[in-house]
Amino acid sequence: MTSKNIDVYTLIQSEICKLRKVGIETASLDCRLLLTKSLERHKILHNHEYIDITNKEIKNFKYLIKQRIAGKPVSRIINKRNFWKMEFKLNEGTLDPRQDSETLIDAVLNHFTNKLQPLKILDLGSGSGCLGLSLLDEYPNSEASFFDISPKSLKMVKINALNLGLSERSQYVNLNWKANNWDKKLLTIENNIKYDVIVSNPPYVPTDIIQTLKKEVKNFDPFVALNGGKEGLDAYKFILPKLINIIKSNGKIFIEIGKGQQCHVISIATGHGLSLKEYRKDLSGVIRVIILNVK
Ligand SMILES: C[S@@+](CC[C@H](N)C(=O)[O-])C[C@H]1O[C@@H](n2cnc3c(N)ncnc32)[C@H](O)[C@@H]1O
Repeated sequence: MTSKNIDVYTLIQSEICKLRKVGIETASLDCRLLLTKSLERHKILHNHEYIDITNKEIKNFKYLIKQRIAGKPVSRIINKRNFWKMEFKLNEGTLDPRQDSETLIDAVLNHFTNKLQPLKILDLGSGSGCLGLSLLDEYPNSEASFFDISPKSLKMVKINALNLGLSERSQYVNLNWKANNWDKKLLTIENNIKYDVIVSNPPYVPTDIIQTLKKEVKNFDPFVALNGGKEGLDAYKFILPKLINIIKSNGKIFIEIGKGQQCHVISIATGHGLSLKEYRKDLSGVIRVIILNVK
């Protein structure tokens, strides 16, 4: 197969222009990531690097660029995303992890400063597993359970846990928090051992708003991972009343919320045996995480 030796920038220059024309601000990085994918390389390519590339690989690269122009996020084309300190594989059943959710990890690290303590962690609505697996990586003596309604997402968590060497400390639970006694079922699975840490990034987008989101989100993130019902609060109404039954008396709960939802979410929590410990802002200054403990 004939190949040519060429520098990356010369190869991607015209494709960068095409992406910029449709308003993609990260055009240069996107092109390099897609070229990396076309070449099945593991390390991202640099602009001034010389590479050997075949006509078939160039054709494949241009095909991926077309998908990007049509609105598919890079993370969905390459099926992976960096979160906190690691890389997570994605499938169509997982939310594309967001940088805002790293606020949850930061908050846990601030509250549990001894990294060697053996924590029992629950990742409620685990998606790709990015939250619980990042915590397992930070706390090497801990164990985590990943709870999700979506079997496809749990399949992905298993793969990520295996790839990241964390599978021996991971457990997978396919339950629905809309079921009346999900807390009891979960405790049975856990031999009645409660959690030190519960993290959750539940779906919190009001149903009517979903259609107004960018096509990268509404067309590619699973509806079940976004849809928070009429006011965006449905998941909190199902989850929060039960947490008192599954958290240890000195445990802590870290919940992600949507912009401006703090009063509603805190009111549900305080009505069900929990009290507000603190809240945390994300990098853009929005209150993103509420931290709760037992009253
Ligand atoms: C916003 S996503 C968060 C995913 C991941 N934790 C993250 O931060 O990227 C919410 C997750 O909750 C799960 N979920 C939605 N409704 C559920 C339900 N009724 N019971 C259990 N899990 C549910 C979805 O499948 C999805 O994986």
